[in-house]
Amino acid sequence: MTPRSFLLTPELGDYVRRCSEPPDDVVRDLLAETAALAERGEASPTFQIAPEQGTFMQVLTRALGARRAIEIGTFTGYSALCIARGLPADGSLLCLDVSAEWTAIARRYWDRAGVGDRVELRLGDAHESLRALPAEPTFDLAFVDADKTGYAAYVDALHPRMTENGVVLLDNTLADGTVLDPRTDNQRAIAELNVALAADPRWDTVLLPLSDGLTMLRRR
Ligand SMILES: C[S@@+](CC[C@H](N)C(=O)[O-])C[C@H]1O[C@@H](n2cnc3c(N)ncnc32)[C@H](O)[C@@H]1O
Repeated sequence: MTPRSFLLTPELGDYVRRCSEPPDDVVRDLLAETAALAERGEASPTFQIAPEQGTFMQVLTRALGARRAIEIGTFTGYSALCIARGLPADGSLLCLDVSAEWTAIARRYWDRAGVGDRVELRLGDAHESLRALPAEPTFDLAFVDADKTGYAAYVDALHPRMTENGVVLLDNTLADGTVLDPRTDNQRAIAELNVALAADPRWDTVLLPLSDGLTMLRRR
């Protein structure tokens, strides 16, 4: 099953997809292989971003002219594939994840799409991997889609590593609609971060009602 936004009826979701650039064979196969993982109970069915978000991120990467990007939370590689496809041929994407198993699937699809040479994968805790990077402006684009209670720390660690005007995207910032009445640690972390970011002078901030909520930060 393809991930869907709770904000759209199934009919409107299908309409949104029909009116966006259609997925090619590589994306179709990656979505199907990931859905099969979820059906076997080997991964959460909500991990992968929705196709309309993937297309948006590919268009945004290209429109920004991003050359160096970083992703925190790669899973089977769909969001990374979209970013990598939006980069120029000599661009680079650094992917951070803990799972060798899931990212091995990702690597197969990046190679098949012809963008494997743009993507470097670092396995391990992303907080440590990020802290180990030089604290200097490096990335034009960042996408955060890993441990929700770690988002505030990722935002802080990314700030000095983003170029001026660099954009950070944070996934799941509507937390399935629970931000109005957060009950779990993950939900509370997202709800508190949303309020803090709206008043954070380091960034221009907008929470887009795309998919499960996508917050876009521009480094001031
Ligand atoms: C929601 S999934 C990412 C989905 C992916 N962006 C996509 O669209 O297919 C979250 C991923 O974050 C990884 N993850 C969670 N906590 C992490 C951590 N502390 N360090 C590195 N990776 C982490 C998990 O292994 C998982 O692959």
